[in-house]
Amino acid sequence: MNTSYKILGTGSCLPELTVDNEMYAKVIDTSDEWITSRTGISRRHLCDGEATWEMAVKAASIAIGEAGVSAETINMIVVTTLTPDYTTPSTACIVQERTGAVNAFCFDLNAACTGFIQAFDIAMHYLCASAEPFTALIVAAESLSKLVDFSDRRTCVLFGDGAGAVVLSNREADGSLLAPDLVYDSFIGADGTGGGYMTGKAFEPAEHPFRDADKPEREDLFGHETGIYLSMKGQEVYRFATTAMPMAIEKVLERAGIALEKIDYVVPHQANDRILQAAAKRIGLDPEKMLSNIAETGNTSSASIPICLDQEIRSGRIKRGQTLIMTGFGGGLTYGACALNY
Ligand code: ACO
Repeated sequence: MNTSYKILGTGSCLPELTVDNEMYAKVIDTSDEWITSRTGISRRHLCDGEATWEMAVKAASIAIGEAGVSAETINMIVVTTLTPDYTTPSTACIVQERTGAVNAFCFDLNAACTGFIQAFDIAMHYLCASAEPFTALIVAAESLSKLVDFSDRRTCVLFGDGAGAVVLSNREADGSLLAPDLVYDSFIGADGTGGGYMTGKAFEPAEHPFRDADKPEREDLFGHETGIYLSMKGQEVYRFATTAMPMAIEKVLERAGIALEKIDYVVPHQANDRILQAAAKRIGLDPEKMLSNIAETGNTSSASIPICLDQEIRSGRIKRGQTLIMTGFGGGLTYGACALNY
């Protein structure tokens, strides 16, 4: 049984098109002042023809290159997305085909914005349970612009598109054993009672010839009234986030047996700067340690954590040997956190 795993490489991809707050103010009743003061968002990247799978493949390819492993050595690919291009094949299978990771088993996971944390938790358990070398590729790829009603100012200004990826292994890239006990721990949870706070309809059922036309339409489980578009109860989500994120961080610290002071940085889901600052205050974390790129990316759902992680590694702020917590919350409701040694 291994006790260690390591992030060998990371990658990310943002669509070329950048849309700033002023551009929104030209098409809906909003302002740069409202958006920045309430959310911390100045601009975001939106797909302009790029598919979710394309961003996933780009981020994955960069992460595999950075990891210095051959694609054939990857055992598992998980793609987290609530905005896939196809219901089948899974985006993970597309990533496998495009990257040449021919030996990997593949699946997609949808836990809204917590997807990356849930995938990390699952991968960590595989890595630690395997006596053999095991390498996992996690990709989080989202095109929220597909789900957002651009006439609804309460939601459309919040979201952006992009993808992030990590390669994790229980071996060094050259196959040698890792130093023991690098693994810390993770915690994931859900509260289905808040399912109605953030809803998106999967698809309308296809008509079949045996349907009784006189049968009344079934009422929507959540009273979702915005068709294919996302619907969000912002204040309820805000309240949940400012409680769930600190709770997840405290749980993971407790499980891992490490003190908050040992944490170099927290890489959180980028939903709203005010949420991040409130969460830091609640647990007594130095706000400088709560990393944020939301000003430039908006909320890219499950992709936001690995995008931020990749950018901070490339900027040199996150360095080898540092202790990190990644934490997220999202629709479902779902939440979670992982502690690791980078
Ligand atoms: N521009 C200008 N005015 C706006 C805008 C906008 N873009 N959006 C809303 N308003 C108006 C509202 O219409 C309302 O006006 P009214 O009082 O005349 O009706 C007023 O601003 C206040 O609206 P609130 O919804 O109360 O604004 P609030 O301060 O709560 O901020 C926000 C809204 C930013 C959405 C906040 O509630 C929030 O961040 N919630 C959490 C959202 C979140 O984290 N979502 C993602 C989680 S899940 C996932 O990531 C997939």
